[in-house]
Amino acid sequence: MTIEISSEPAGTLGDVWSRIAKRVVGRERELKLLLAAVAAGRDLMLEGPPGTSKSTLLRAITAEWGIPLVFVEGNADLTPTRLVGHHNPARVLAEDYNASNFVEGPLLEAMRTGGFLYIEEFNRAPDDTLNTLLTAMAERVITVPRVGSVQALPTFRVVASMNPYDNVGTTRLSTSVHDRMCRLVTTYQDAEAEREIVSRRSEVTSPRLIADAVSLTRMTRERDDIRQGSSVRGAIDLAVVAHQLCALEGVEAPVDEGINPPRGLPKAYTEVMLNATLVALSGRIHLDDTAVDTPESVLLEIWQEYFHLRPAIAEPG
Ligand SMILES: Nc1ncnc2c1ncn2[C@@H]1O[C@H](COP(=O)(O)OP(=O)(O)O)[C@@H](O)[C@H]1O
Ligand SMILES: [Mg+2]
Repeated sequence: MTIEISSEPAGTLGDVWSRIAKRVVGRERELKLLLAAVAAGRDLMLEGPPGTSKSTLLRAITAEWGIPLVFVEGNADLTPTRLVGHHNPARVLAEDYNASNFVEGPLLEAMRTGGFLYIEEFNRAPDDTLNTLLTAMAERVITVPRVGSVQALPTFRVVASMNPYDNVGTTRLSTSVHDRMCRLVTTYQDAEAEREIVSRRSEVTSPRLIADAVSLTRMTRERDDIRQGSSVRGAIDLAVVAHQLCALEGVEAPVDEGINPPRGLPKAYTEVMLNATLVALSGRIHLDDTAVDTPESVLLEIWQEYFHLRPAIAEPG
């Protein structure tokens, strides 16, 4: 199947892939698999923690194809009515039910416009909502009483996402849901890619500051007492907050390349990094249920290990 949405020739799927790949840091493999699945007409489940490029990949594909990306958050309030749409109650009172007082929900919007319906935290949606979706996926047409049938354009897709750390288990989805979707797992990218993302998503230019922000953030993912650490979003915020704090405090970020472990950095700088870490990451780390510490004390330990203990370990004698 070929997809030609815009008036410009799209070229082969490989051409599309290389154009999109330029806008995304790394993720070449995930982008290929995702493109192959949607080009094959398939609906898909993206499974990965927050901040692992799920929206970024979908935005890049839909922008390239010139189709809408319709976002919905999966939660207990996402009823079939909210997904499909409803009649405006005030207008129904005045003029009775008719097609013109129907307010389209995100599912209908995506079907009518040939967009991707992106449902985050899919596993949190109620069962009857999932059934509505399964029907739309299978039939590609939906019939709304008093409104009529809406036929999906060929590019309509359902893309769901789930966070594997979510305590509303991902296993609650029935096998009939899983049986109807392809699945792609996204994990955290390597430190080099994360440094590039922070650099692209901020005005921060100091390689040292960016490397430290990424390293401190990544350390929150390695600890036993943290159930879910911070994503690259935390690293971006840590870098931009530290950058502003440096300016406020009159502190210069050190100028070295930043890849190597930090050694003998000025105290004023490491203190800025501690405060920026607390502001950027304390709300983003989720401690294990059995942990007795606070997010602040855990982050202080990480900071000490990174700026004070690690260099000593790395440099014996
Ligand atoms: N591979 C990537 N290339 C460029 N930016 C990225 C990449 N991955 C994540 N980001 C940036 O990190 C943030 C979170 O990414 P996002 O795609 O929204 O994650 P998710 O949807 O998985 O929660 C966004 O600001 C996004 O721009
Ligand atoms: Mg997202």
